[in-house]
Amino acid sequence: MRAFLGIGLPAGTREAIVSAIGQARGLHAPVAWTAPGNLHITLNFLGEILPERVALVERSMRVVANGIGPFSLTAEGGGAFPGTRNPRIFWVGFREPLELVRQLQQNMGNALSGAGFSREDRPFHPHITVGRTRGALPPAWGERFVQALSGKGFGVVPVSFFTLYESRLGPGGAVYTPVCDFRLAGSGKG
Ligand code: 2AM
Repeated sequence: MRAFLGIGLPAGTREAIVSAIGQARGLHAPVAWTAPGNLHITLNFLGEILPERVALVERSMRVVANGIGPFSLTAEGGGAFPGTRNPRIFWVGFREPLELVRQLQQNMGNALSGAGFSREDRPFHPHITVGRTRGALPPAWGERFVQALSGKGFGVVPVSFFTLYESRLGPGGAVYTPVCDFRLAGSGKG
């Protein structure tokens, strides 16, 4: 199955994001906007994994979750990858400090690599993907999107667990199904 590890978002944050990008959506640019229920933070993308390896992932992730305590993130502002001039991915970001989510993602990477999975080669930049470009955008579109989100807050995301999701790609878009939640049970940074 195609799988990834991530953090789901509270309804209030999803609603605030949908409302903030409403104007951009209304412009009918070639952007595939993320369905509100699909908005999430990806921690680690596993890709295609064999069903018999799921138990191994779950075991490793339980150890990781036991090493870090609950924390919260504040969703704020936005940006574009790889940059505002040539946007491919539009995202909502988070306010610093991000040490705990970075530590969680790093511990996950170490555990997964120890379990024989390949390491993510891209640097971790905690974000919520809100749209993906599907064609040429009018000039300055990226800058305008980022400006429209600048300084906007989308609420606090309490992180008391993370989730292994199955991702099924279909003609109607991706469908993400939670497979297993891992409760953060550590007392500190782990
Ligand atoms: P992102 O949108 O937060 O960057 C589920 O498919 C999630 O896994 C996506 O939202 C995406 O995260 C991430 N993802 C998908 N394909 C990926 C790939 N090839 N490499 C890394 N992450 C990927």
